Amino acid sequence: MRLLHITFAFALASGLAAILIYIIGVTNSNGILEIWEEELEALRMLHTGFKKCVASNGLGLKAVSGKDYCDVMIQFPDDTVPKWKDPKTGELEGLSYTFNLCEAVATWEQVRNSTTILTKEFIDALPRGWEDYAWRRINKGVQLNQCKNKTLCMEKLSLVLPETPPYVPHQFDRCAVIGNSGDLLKTRFGNEIDGYDAVLRENGAPIQNFTEFVGKKSTFRLLNRGSAKALDKVAELYETGREVLLVKTTIHDIMNRMIREIPILNPVYLMLGASFGSAAKGTGLKALEFALSICDSVDMYGFTVDPGYKEWTRYFSESRQGHTPLHGRAYYQMMECLGLVKIHSPMRADPKRVVKWLPSRSTVAAAKTASDKLLGRVGAGFKNPLAACFITKKQIRRKPKSIPGLRKEAAEHQKYVNGATMYPLEHNPGHGQLCTVP
Ligand SMILES: *[C@@H]1O[C@H](CO)[C@@H](O)[C@H](O)[C@H]1NC(C)=O
Ligand SMILES: *[C@@H]1O[C@H](CO)[C@@H](O)[C@H](O)[C@H]1NC(C)=O
Ligand SMILES: *[C@@H]1O[C@H](CO)[C@@H](O)[C@H](O)[C@H]1NC(C)=O
Repeated sequence: MRLLHITFAFALASGLAAILIYIIGVTNSNGILEIWEEELEALRMLHTGFKKCVASNGLGLKAVSGKDYCDVMIQFPDDTVPKWKDPKTGELEGLSYTFNLCEAVATWEQVRNSTTILTKEFIDALPRGWEDYAWRRINKGVQLNQCKNKTLCMEKLSLVLPETPPYVPHQFDRCAVIGNSGDLLKTRFGNEIDGYDAVLRENGAPIQNFTEFVGKKSTFRLLNRGSAKALDKVAELYETGREVLLVKTTIHDIMNRMIREIPILNPVYLMLGASFGSAAKGTGLKALEFALSICDSVDMYGFTVDPGYKEWTRYFSESRQGHTPLHGRAYYQMMECLGLVKIHSPMRADPKRVVKWLPSRSTVAAAKTASDKLLGRVGAGFKNPLAACFITKKQIRRKPKSIPGLRKEAAEHQKYVNGATMYPLEHNPGHGQLCTVP
């Protein structure tokens, strides 16, 4: 038997202490979860495949190994001229970024089976959900005195708070997430985009007058704080149908009034996000997260991800302050090479482009199990998907499935999780989930 010798550093929940664990072959030391040789082999394959994938699809990016199979650094070519300065420190963006593949696989694979819309069921099931959580999703919620008057809190949230999840994992087959990059005007992606089962757009992105570049179809729209306050303008953007509006931050009294009085007939929901740490806070990533939670495959268009970045422009307005373009490009390339998304851009415009060196589903699944164990995630190593539930509560009775013709994949998934709904729990150290079960 070949001995696999590998060193892993893993930080304790507190983030204070880091301990080194040496795992040699399949030996188990001191109650640390045993990692099977096949799983380690999957991590090794993921790691080596990843470097080849970045080299062949990254347009000049290079991934180099770090101290273990989890650790990689994505580097830009030396002659890359960073243009973006951190407004706080005045420092130019760097040319190399370290990523933890194990953490990325463990967390993003979990997203695919999670519900990312805030529901009343979730708040009710969360211990002290109304006192500790609900008010955070209401603008100026601090004034609500931790929802002491629960009726008042519920009133403020009621227009955006469904009882139970409006969508289930795998509900859609192929989805496209459309960013707002000015790069979109370089390629006529319109028809291609309209061919997806669901299309997700962001903020005030117009469709009219740009359809040959951005398509006509629009299913969801993710809104940051600013756009959500102009909900009436956003609702007018898509006159041929009704997009579902997803608010990333908080519900605002102005929004409530608009929904009631204008009225806004689009469904409006608040997004419930997993925690990815500082790397993944932007609207673009949140949009990908939502798409991955309801779609089998996710393709991205309109993100600034090609070499030669000069300034951040939107396809429908003058250039403006973007943020961390190089870090973003490296992160999206990581996502592509983990098989989470496919990138379409002016330099990757061929719809038949094949992403080479993608990991197989079975490699990803085994690598996810190994990562869960290494990172000490809740439910690590258990076959039962509900082992990842940190909190389990009984479901309120669901209406008979109101989605007619639920896709086979979605129905199969429901069977796999025994009808449970799994929600991400913010700041849970082991990434345990909140689950509601029939
Ligand atoms: C709680 O809020 C509701 C709705 O605004 C209001 O009708 C009720 O009087 C409030 N109750 C208390 C005890 O303040
Ligand atoms: C589209 O173009 C027309 C004519 O130039 C203009 O009146 C309209 O406001 C534009 N629509 C959008 C959404 O920009
Ligand atoms: C997600 O669900 C699928 C079945 O739909 C299952 O094969 C997969 O292992 C699950 N992934 C995680 C991370 O639980």
